[in-house]
Amino acid sequence: MSTDSATVMRRARSEEDSRRIAAQLAQGFEVEFNPTSGGAIVFLNGTLGSGKTFFVQALQRYLGVTGEIVSPTFTICVPHRGSLFDIWHMDAYRIEHDEEVDELGLDEALSNGKLILVEWGEKIAKLAPLPDLDIQIEVLGEREREFRFVAKSTFGLALIGHLSQT
Ligand SMILES: Nc1ncnc2c1ncn2[C@@H]1O[C@H](COP(=O)(O)OP(=O)(O)OP(=O)(O)O)[C@@H](O)[C@H]1O
Ligand SMILES: [Mg+2]
Repeated sequence: MSTDSATVMRRARSEEDSRRIAAQLAQGFEVEFNPTSGGAIVFLNGTLGSGKTFFVQALQRYLGVTGEIVSPTFTICVPHRGSLFDIWHMDAYRIEHDEEVDELGLDEALSNGKLILVEWGEKIAKLAPLPDLDIQIEVLGEREREFRFVAKSTFGLALIGHLSQT
């Protein structure tokens, strides 16, 4: 388990396990997130095919996003409406220039109470606001994944508190 209070590790042995972890995080957002007092930003990192999109899609489903959820690889940012708040699903993999990050208007989106989920967040870490939560996914086998959740803010810490129950 975690070695420090700001980190939670979770092992998934199947896609179903990954979905369950996403459901717990979604519950964390439902309880802890108050968009009227500002948004939140989460980075997801991990190699190609580790399951970032899979996890973000599951998370959005549990947050009430209906309809198709496509991967934002080519569009960089796909906005969705959850049942309680707006969500931006981003993929920073193809971002090459600093201006592309400026143009996204992340600060404004955060002041408008959006939840921003960024695949390949590490690629924009120097330019983007500090994340509340950093999720690292490691591939351990064909279906096995290790999730490392690192809280970077008080809100992030409250969120990962919802992951510790099994
Ligand atoms: N336990 C698991 N959790 C998540 N995905 C899993 C798991 N086991 C197998 N998979 C498979 O791994 C793949 C993950 O692909 P996904 O597109 O989510 O990766 P990604 O990290 O977003 O990659 P990219 O960097 O290309 O965007 C999917 O095909 C999914 O079905
Ligand atoms: Mg992806």
